[in-house]
Order: sequence, then structure tokens, then C-alpha cells
Amino acid sequence: MKIFLDTADINQIREAAAIGLVDGVTTNPTLVSRVEGKFEDIIREICETVDGPVSAEVVSLDAAGMVEEAKKLAAIHKNVVIKIPMTKDGARAIRELKTLGIRTNCTLVFSANQAYIAAKAGASYVSPFIGRLDDAGAVGMDLIRETMQIYENYGFDTEVIVASVRHPLHVVESLMIGAHIATIPSGVFEKMFKHPLTDKGIDSFLADWEKVKSR
Ligand code: G3P
Repeated sequence: MKIFLDTADINQIREAAAIGLVDGVTTNPTLVSRVEGKFEDIIREICETVDGPVSAEVVSLDAAGMVEEAKKLAAIHKNVVIKIPMTKDGARAIRELKTLGIRTNCTLVFSANQAYIAAKAGASYVSPFIGRLDDAGAVGMDLIRETMQIYENYGFDTEVIVASVRHPLHVVESLMIGAHIATIPSGVFEKMFKHPLTDKGIDSFLADWEKVKSR
């Protein structure tokens, strides 16, 4: 499973990318609002830091506006993927952008029907929002299971990005289902490395090594 970072914070991205495990980045208007700078500059800097798909979201609600925004964003860097919300206009824009060779990530997906439409429209990626479904009292991960099954049934090549990831168990469940990608906030990425028994083990090995050193 590929790991994308779900942040627009270049420091978080640099730190995680330095380990060599980051395959791409996703942003949205909320994440961009949390950092300084012009949108285009933020996206360019991320593209220069991570060699993989970088999602940048449009804010137009009509298909023509989305396509215009998408063309400008796609011109920033070859790795930019255009995030398009799942609406009727969004589906139209996804279809049109595919004919122009511009990759899209269909976002704000909360149902299997929406995931199906995104793939049929030709989205390169689909982003079901797992944490927000959990918040609403549904089992978000069920949507990942359904989407993976639907795409397998019909041979869609749209890749499933597990989005709105809130904790490391979401990542494990994504792995068990066989999702293509999880986009992970940096706090969750940090937690994936940690286990108290690892820290305890290192402490006791180092303490015992002191005895060996002083021989
Ligand atoms: O990738 C989508 C993600 O940014 C949404 O996450 O935590 O705002 O539901 P969240």
C-alpha cells in the first residue's frame, strides 16, 4: 500500500519524506489554510519535495470553472493531481480532464454509488472519507471494502485513497482490505513507528550495553 501524507505543511512533508516512505501528498483547502503562502507556491514546493502525485483541490462548483482551475494547477508541475468534489459537475469535469490527460482525485466520497460514479467518470483516484463517516456513526471502513470490491468486479483502474484517516488502526484496516493508498496526517504517521515496548527494549539494551562497555 502506498503512503501519502495528508498535509500542506512543508516541514512535516520534508521530515517524513526524508525517511523515504512517502509516495505522494494530498491537500485540501482546509489544510492549505493552515500554512502560510500562496496556494500555487505551496503546491510547487511540495512537488519539488516529494516525487509522487500531489493533490491540489479546485474550489469552483461548476464543471467549466473546475476545468479552468484544473488546467492552471496542472501547469504548476507534472505531478499535480486535481482534486474534484463528487458532484454532477465534478463528474463532468473529471471526464473532460481525462480527455485532456489531466489526472484527477475525486474527493468528498461517502457512498459506494459515489465511488462507482467517480471511477466510471475516469478519476485516477477516489478518496472515501473514512473518519468523517465514523464521526457520523457509520463504519467508514465498510466503504473501502465495498469500493475495492466494486472496482475489482468491473476492472476499474481508479486507485482507492483511504482518506480522513484518524488513527493507526485505520491504516492497519486499509492494509488488511488491500486498499491501494492511505493518505495519512503526519501525527498518525508518527504513531505508526511507535510502540512502548520498542522504547522499553531500547532502554534496557542500552543500559545492559553500558555494562559490556565497562569490561
Ligand atoms: O484527505 C481528506 C482529509 O484531509 C479529510 O480529513 O480529518 O478533515 O476528515 P478530516
